[in-house]
Amino acid sequence: MNMNDIIIKKRQGGKLTKDEIDYVVSGYVAGDIPDYQVSALLMAIFFMHMDEEETSQLTEAMRYSGDTIDLSGISGIKVDKHSTGGVGDKTTLVVTPIAAACGVPIAKMSGRGLGFTGGTVDKMESIPGFRTSLEPKEFMDQVNDIGISVIGQTAHITPADKKLYALRDVTGTVDNFSLIASSIMSKKLAAGSDKILLDVKCGDGAFMENIDDAETLGGIMCDIGNRAGKTTVAAITDMSQPLGKAVGNSLEVIEAIETLKGNGPEDITELSKRLGGIMLYLGGRAKSAEDGYVIAEHAIAGGAALEKLKSFIERQGGDSNVVEDYSLFPQPTVELNLIAEESGYIEAIKAKSIGLASQHTGAGRATKDDEIDLSAGIYLHKKVADHVSKGDVLATFYGRDKAKVKAARDEAAKAFIITAEKVKKPILIKEILGL
Ligand code: URA
Repeated sequence: MNMNDIIIKKRQGGKLTKDEIDYVVSGYVAGDIPDYQVSALLMAIFFMHMDEEETSQLTEAMRYSGDTIDLSGISGIKVDKHSTGGVGDKTTLVVTPIAAACGVPIAKMSGRGLGFTGGTVDKMESIPGFRTSLEPKEFMDQVNDIGISVIGQTAHITPADKKLYALRDVTGTVDNFSLIASSIMSKKLAAGSDKILLDVKCGDGAFMENIDDAETLGGIMCDIGNRAGKTTVAAITDMSQPLGKAVGNSLEVIEAIETLKGNGPEDITELSKRLGGIMLYLGGRAKSAEDGYVIAEHAIAGGAALEKLKSFIERQGGDSNVVEDYSLFPQPTVELNLIAEESGYIEAIKAKSIGLASQHTGAGRATKDDEIDLSAGIYLHKKVADHVSKGDVLATFYGRDKAKVKAARDEAAKAFIITAEKVKKPILIKEILGL
């Protein structure tokens, strides 16, 4: 087989065979095919596309390019939940204790934040003592004992994705449906769960800015999962404004705890119950997603989900007193308010601008090796459709570096659009594919 022939075939719109795809992925990971040839192929794929069969075959080749996790030692139907990434998205911290409290085993690998989106691993690490790196046996034993464990991604899983993603990032080939879908799904399939729930974020603060693109991506990922024999459901959900009110690591964990206490913002509470309900259905613990919603609601109201979070924190070495005493989280030393300069209704809070401003308070990293400030971030006092009066506090900015926090606040001012007309709330859950 010859890489040059494969590039030309795709450039001319041909369909790659499984053998050709396997050749490219294994040769690239082994270092036998150079970056410049893979870059050319990625650009050919970008313009000429891959069909569903090719996309699925690419995913499988990437899935098996390194270690895969065997969760067969854990009893029960393991359901994974994955968000395509957004601003203020702490849903995993709420949904996984709900699902575990209701009997769905959670054995999950999560990522760190990069750029303007956050990551579950960073958020969990804002809990003093919490360890996100466990030995495989420790991870499995914990799920068998208490029903939940969440760890960081191991270095040896899907090396093809790591290499391809880095190359896509510098060759203008990130935003192609097949390449995004295979990147996400290869990691999900390698992580070993039986069923997969995808939360495909849609809007200004997400990879997919409009509903058509989010539906297309969700559909392709469901197809890949189902071809691999794993029931996959994709919820298309709003990311036109940040989710909830807190953006930034410890702030988001506090909001997740409040949500499990029944005091969370409306959107994160509703999304957690809906996604929790779907996970319970997929995990065989509810007759339908609607039935699961009611069970999830009870797990919050009766305190079982909060108790599960506490034992999860304790078992991973964290101080579970944080659940009652928020002063145990890393504390900011700077706090600045953004004030409304006019009265009216909030028409938009641009999620991407808020995500970038949060990153600039110190809460996020620009490159994967940057240090982050776990105390930093933004708390939104207003959400889209709320009324504001001139002089009201729109948001508070936290951190430990005054210049950074002030710059972030000034930068975020443009994220808020205020209008004289009444505004409707955005639809939170736009569609659910695969149920
Ligand atoms: N997230 C991923 O893991 N991969 C992509 O290509 C895009 C988002």
